[in-house]
Amino acid sequence: MKARQIRPSIYCVGAIDWDRRLFDALVPLPDGTSYNAYLVQGGQKVALIDTVDPAMTGVLMAYLESIPTIDYVIANHAEQDHSGSIPHVLEKYPDARVVTTPKCRDLLMALLLVPEDRFVTVNDGETLSLGDKTLEFIYAPWVHWPETMLTYVREDKILFPCDLFGSHLATTDMYVSSEGQVYESAKRYYAEIMMPFRTIIEKHLQKLNGYEIDVIAPSHGPIYDRPPFILEAYRSWVSGRLKNTVVLPYISMHGSTQRMVQYFVGALVDRGVAVEQFNLATTDIGKLAMALVDAATLIIGTPTVLVGPHPNVAHAAFLANALRPRIQFVSIIGSYGWGSKAVEQLTGMIPNLKAEVLAPVISKGFPREEDFKALDNLASTIAQKHKERGFVS
Ligand code: FEO
Repeated sequence: MKARQIRPSIYCVGAIDWDRRLFDALVPLPDGTSYNAYLVQGGQKVALIDTVDPAMTGVLMAYLESIPTIDYVIANHAEQDHSGSIPHVLEKYPDARVVTTPKCRDLLMALLLVPEDRFVTVNDGETLSLGDKTLEFIYAPWVHWPETMLTYVREDKILFPCDLFGSHLATTDMYVSSEGQVYESAKRYYAEIMMPFRTIIEKHLQKLNGYEIDVIAPSHGPIYDRPPFILEAYRSWVSGRLKNTVVLPYISMHGSTQRMVQYFVGALVDRGVAVEQFNLATTDIGKLAMALVDAATLIIGTPTVLVGPHPNVAHAAFLANALRPRIQFVSIIGSYGWGSKAVEQLTGMIPNLKAEVLAPVISKGFPREEDFKALDNLASTIAQKHKERGFVS
């Protein structure tokens, strides 16, 4: 594939990774991903914005084969899927300098062993002229590492935000062609990567209000030629109204918890509350993360294993705690045979959720009438609380 032009003298030179199915040995990638890098050829100087994952270095270097000079490698972020090819680029262009934040420089020296004399560090708001194009560097820490910055090309009004606004989506479309498809991928990406940092991301979004942006060119997924689409989506994810929805991840071993979940879902729906149910034996954990972005309540369903929650449930609780969703209410339903500390152990695992804990419902063995009544009460409490708080359907 030839380098594709976004604007005169600005090209995509990244790599599409159709086959990758897991990121960080953790995050599912059902639709693959891309590592986008961009070449900006100014009248006097040439800059490469970000690079690609080391597994795809060859793709980037093939694009650069006919490029005689690169003066600057702009490193918006130190994570290896964008920085990993920097040593190869520096080897090909011995006079090139890596332009980045001081924190990113330190990380790149540690992670990739790039020598200190290959760096130029920049401050927030500092500019770099390429002749007829001006790069402005916008500090944006914690998206999702502490060293991150965004790069803005003033003359073309293009924002290069690296991970921010990205989507794990392998596609030959340079620009977003299906907003519905990209919305799903971008929301998944936000849920898995950005959600824990939503408070600071909200501030970054406010900062970007001061910029005229015609194009957003992230480092994963297609480019946004209609930036309001992704900016509005991010605003709604970080601070929009929560939904009248219960997220219900669960496991059942012998059917007791399954019966409780089945009954409870019906009780919620009868009371006008939507449910997203996830069987943790088979679920795509990314789907669960997406559901947590804007749901009002989390109910965890677990049987008892060795006195505690099922390990898959403990994993989901750990994940929910780490992702820090805006969940307002939380509770636990489930079952045990001869003794259980599952409720105490699970509630102790989710301190980051600033949520009201509602009375759990735990049945000894298969649920009976009193357990179903308790589930009805829990469903009524949730419906009432959602109504009082005005959560949207
Ligand atoms: Fe796409 Fe944080 O790397």
